[in-house]
Amino acid sequence: GRCVVAVDGPSGSGKSTVSRRLATGLGARYLDTGAMYRALTWAVLRSGVELTDAESVAKVAAEADLRIGTDPQGYAVTVDGTDVSTAIRGAEVTGAVSAVAAVAAVRELLVDRQRRVIADAGRIVVEGRDIGSVVAPDADLKVYLTASEAARAKRRSAEDAADVAATAADLARRDRLDSTRKVNPLQQAPDAVVLDTTELGIDEVVARLRDMLTE
Ligand code: CDP
Repeated sequence: GRCVVAVDGPSGSGKSTVSRRLATGLGARYLDTGAMYRALTWAVLRSGVELTDAESVAKVAAEADLRIGTDPQGYAVTVDGTDVSTAIRGAEVTGAVSAVAAVAAVRELLVDRQRRVIADAGRIVVEGRDIGSVVAPDADLKVYLTASEAARAKRRSAEDAADVAATAADLARRDRLDSTRKVNPLQQAPDAVVLDTTELGIDEVVARLRDMLTE
C-alpha cells in the first residue's frame, strides 16, 4: 500500500545515505528534493541572471525542463536535456543554491512537482528540509536527522574529498542562510521523530526507522 516517509535535516546529517538505503529496503521510490533545488540553481547560473533578481530567477526556474529519477540505487537529474547529476554537486551550485531556494516562486514550483511525484509513486522516501512540514505533512513517518556540527562537517568533507575546515564553514554558512529566510525550510514538523546521528552508524539509523515503520 501507500507509504510516504519524510526525511528532513541539515547537510551532513546522513539524510541521503539513510534515505536511499531505507527506500531500497522497502522496495520504495526515492526523491532527493535537494537535487531539484540544485538543478534549478544550475539553470539559473547558466542563464547569467543575477541571483539577487528574484523575478528573473523565478522565470528561469519556471522555464527549465527539470527531470529527476526516483530509483534509490541511482537516478539522473537533467535540465533541458543536459545531464547535470555531477555538476549540481560542484562548489558553484553549492554556493548559490541557498539563494535560489529562498525565492518563494521557486519553492512553490518545486513543492508542487514534489507532491505530484509522491502521489504517482505511492511508496516513497522523500529527503529534504521541508518535507514533513510543507511537502508531505500527512507522511506515514517523519524523521528529522541531526548531528553535531563537527560530525556533519567530517562526513560531508569525506564525501566530497574536501578540507574539513572549509566544509565546516560552508555548512555553517548554508545552515544560516537556510534557517534565516522568511519561510524557514529547516522548520521541523512538530510530529517529526528527531534522531541525533552523531554517535550512530548508517545501518543503525536505517534499522531504527524500519522499526518505527512497523510499530
Ligand atoms: O545534502 P546537502 O545538505 O548538501 O544539500 P541538499 O539536500 O542537496 O540541498 C541543497 C540546498 O537546497 C539546501 O542547502 C537548501 O537551501 C535547499 N533545499 C531546500 O530549501 N528545501 C529542500 N526540501 C531541499 C533542499
